[in-house]
Amino acid sequence: MSNLVDLIIKKRDGLALSAAEIQAFITAVTEDTIADYQTSAMLMAMFLQGLTEEETVSLTQAMTHSGTVMDLSSIPGKKADKHSTGGVADTTTLILAPLVASCGVPVFKMSGRGLGFSGGTLDKLESIPGFSTSLSPEQAISLCKESGLVVMGQTKDLTPADQKLYALRDVTGTVDSIPLIVSSIMSKKIAAGADAIVLDVKCGSGAFMKDLPSAQTLARQMVQIGRSLGRRVSAVISSMAQPLGLLIGNALEVEEAISVLKGETEGDLLDVSLELGSRMLLLTDAVSSVEEGKRLLRRQIETGAGLAQLERLIAQQGADISILHHPDRLPKAQSSLAVKAPKSGYLCAMDTASIGHTSVLLGAGRVKKTDAIDYAAGIRMAVRLGDFVEEGQLLGTLYARNDGLCAQGAALFTNAFTFSEEKPTQPPLILDIIEEGTK
Ligand code: URA
Repeated sequence: MSNLVDLIIKKRDGLALSAAEIQAFITAVTEDTIADYQTSAMLMAMFLQGLTEEETVSLTQAMTHSGTVMDLSSIPGKKADKHSTGGVADTTTLILAPLVASCGVPVFKMSGRGLGFSGGTLDKLESIPGFSTSLSPEQAISLCKESGLVVMGQTKDLTPADQKLYALRDVTGTVDSIPLIVSSIMSKKIAAGADAIVLDVKCGSGAFMKDLPSAQTLARQMVQIGRSLGRRVSAVISSMAQPLGLLIGNALEVEEAISVLKGETEGDLLDVSLELGSRMLLLTDAVSSVEEGKRLLRRQIETGAGLAQLERLIAQQGADISILHHPDRLPKAQSSLAVKAPKSGYLCAMDTASIGHTSVLLGAGRVKKTDAIDYAAGIRMAVRLGDFVEEGQLLGTLYARNDGLCAQGAALFTNAFTFSEEKPTQPPLILDIIEEGTK
């Protein structure tokens, strides 16, 4: 076996690494026997030269096995999981996880925290007073066996190689590489143990992938890699041309998810949740078509079964179930500010990332991993793309700890909207579906 410098040179020169060579690199990363500058050089070589499909499979496999791989076999039935590449007001997990679990399909969810303009499920759930996501794998498996649904934070020993590589990619300009993103996401999903994985690949102004061709390439590769490693996988490419829901921020998004589960709120957030949830049911053989899955999930809303499942989740993880019927008991902001339209016109574009950055500035998110967040902060959107708004009409209400933050947020928020005289065509919500066997 060549030494690590030879491997860096080989990749730098555009040659494909063998599975054994990729394993040697990942072992060295995991065991800290390679210097950070060498790892960074290898990441840059991979970024610039790309990886073949075989190399991406080998990298994903090596990263998956760099730490613990969850064994969920003691939970009866096929287990489902989902992953979003990250968006704004993207609260689908809080809706579809209880809905799918209430249909009898166990959902074992390892979630992440928000970073940058995209939120994270752990932060949203922790805005419910008392909610604990720090569970050991044994506790999480036992809760999932009992109730059919658990949401836990990623443990330290899940894909440690990815944790090291991601930290270096973040500071070396090597995040935006499709094979590196594929191996990072899919190694975590495979190590988390579910049989069926539905991916929500976000595309548009509030997503990693700004255009459809790159979202399609990412989705296709993730589906193929998941398949090669023995999991059932499909991907939905959904629009981030505007925030998915109307409420942005941790406690606010919990409030909106509850309202959707009560059948009080329809719209894009529900539609994407049904699109993803029905595919979780399909891949676990609980239904035989997406349409049947959507009908079943809608029925779980009508009968209150989805809401009851969320109640069990909140109770089992130590939190206050009274928020389900008294959302006013969720954290509430001290200050608010109504932001009005500076002129009349059709809303033809939103800079969704800027809206996400506004919520971070208000206190709802983190710039650095170690930043504290304000659960009550966020935005209540009052408009959707294609709406005609009059000058002075409400665009949204901002919530923060003090008036100064609201005023700073207002400037950024107002600039996120583009107005036109012509009525714009409505962009599709679901841009593509990539299923097993899609070329
Ligand atoms: N999310 C991940 O987990 N990894 C990436 O590389 C990008 C997004």
